[in-house]
Amino acid sequence: MAYLHVKKVKKFSAELSVPGDKSISHRALMFAALSNGPCEITGFLAGEDCLATMRALTAMGVEIEPLDADGTRLRVHGCRGEFKDPGQPIDCGNSGTTMRLLAGILASKPFEVTLVGDESLSKRPMNRIAIPLEQMGAKVEGQGERRTPPIKITGRERLEAIHYDSPVASAQVKSAILLAGLAAGGRTSVSEPHPSRDHTERMLEYLLVKTVREGDTVSIWGGQTPESRDIEVPGDISSAAFWIVAAAASKGSRLVIRNVGLNPTRVGVLKVMARMGARIVERVDESGCEPMGSIEVVGDGLSATEIGGAEIPTLIDEIPVLAVAAALAEGRTVIRDAHELRVKESDRIATVAESLRRMGATVEEFADGMEIVGGARLKGAEIYSLGDHRIAMAFAIAGLFAEGETVIRDVGCIETSYPGFIREIEQLQTMVSGS
Ligand code: S3P
Repeated sequence: MAYLHVKKVKKFSAELSVPGDKSISHRALMFAALSNGPCEITGFLAGEDCLATMRALTAMGVEIEPLDADGTRLRVHGCRGEFKDPGQPIDCGNSGTTMRLLAGILASKPFEVTLVGDESLSKRPMNRIAIPLEQMGAKVEGQGERRTPPIKITGRERLEAIHYDSPVASAQVKSAILLAGLAAGGRTSVSEPHPSRDHTERMLEYLLVKTVREGDTVSIWGGQTPESRDIEVPGDISSAAFWIVAAAASKGSRLVIRNVGLNPTRVGVLKVMARMGARIVERVDESGCEPMGSIEVVGDGLSATEIGGAEIPTLIDEIPVLAVAAALAEGRTVIRDAHELRVKESDRIATVAESLRRMGATVEEFADGMEIVGGARLKGAEIYSLGDHRIAMAFAIAGLFAEGETVIRDVGCIETSYPGFIREIEQLQTMVSGS
């Protein structure tokens, strides 16, 4: 079980770019495979989650050619979604996005397939996609009432178009339904309580698939084939968030991140950090399938804030590192409406609260969030990631501000979303160290 030692650093100045966006990389592979010809993907995230999607598509006969040594440029030969029966279970590893989006595609395939996951994914609810996909005519069998993996999907070639009022603001649920809707007769639509990330809608539009967005409802018409086009994946703002918090919490630090995704449904972390006192400038340089550009952060000391409501889906994956920012800020920060954190790669409310307490912070846990008392000096501690990549990275950042040494246990999971993170943090520490 790999571990990482982190020690305190002084203020720093850095310019960097982060690996490709995880959500967009999954979609680029899947949508390219559904398209009618070759698509070149650049900026692909060659992390474990997206590699699980790649292996799944390969197992179903999709030809994917690497175009460079580090796996960030690929050519996917779109086959109009005419996949072959993989003849064995598909392993989605740790990746909820692989399992849920693939389920939407497989709902209309003329074969039966089982999707399995690792220990963490095997605890996550799949009933949230099983319910709408069954309304459309597929069969989705899982374990128990929450239909946890393994799940067996029996597809039906001609699905029924439905309208689905999703009880959760989840881009994975919305995307599974829209992907199934591509193979349904007529108009399929999904509404959600708050807007979730819209990468699926943007990519469908970019690949010339007709969709309509009206308020919080997205609709798609069945029977369309995405047009093959090249796709550029921007850097992942969820990965950038670790360095943004590190710079923002350290008075006088300056950070520039280039070529990062600036999709408005993903930039909640920037809004919160600005509210907490960081000086942040966003600049959109390019807008293809997705807006991308640079972020400049100047640290100026942080103060507490409240996070909740419609803001939650725009920063759901950043809450562990935002909780670290809260512990470093003056005052009490309250996070509410984030029940979804209970069903991520770990129960992130419990893991964050436990890890912050280990470092000396006072935290009160709620069913849907937590209150963090900021301003106490953090002390180095032993932190258990529980195999959750965002926990491992968030507490590596906390370690940069703690007295003494922090040891993060089980950091292999970082490969899920951020290959190169350990190298970056080690570099930062050799560049600047001290109190
Ligand atoms: C994702 C959506 C989010 C996010 C996950 C990736 C996606 O999950 O937490 O890391 O790519 O659609 P939910 O949609 O379930 O909230």
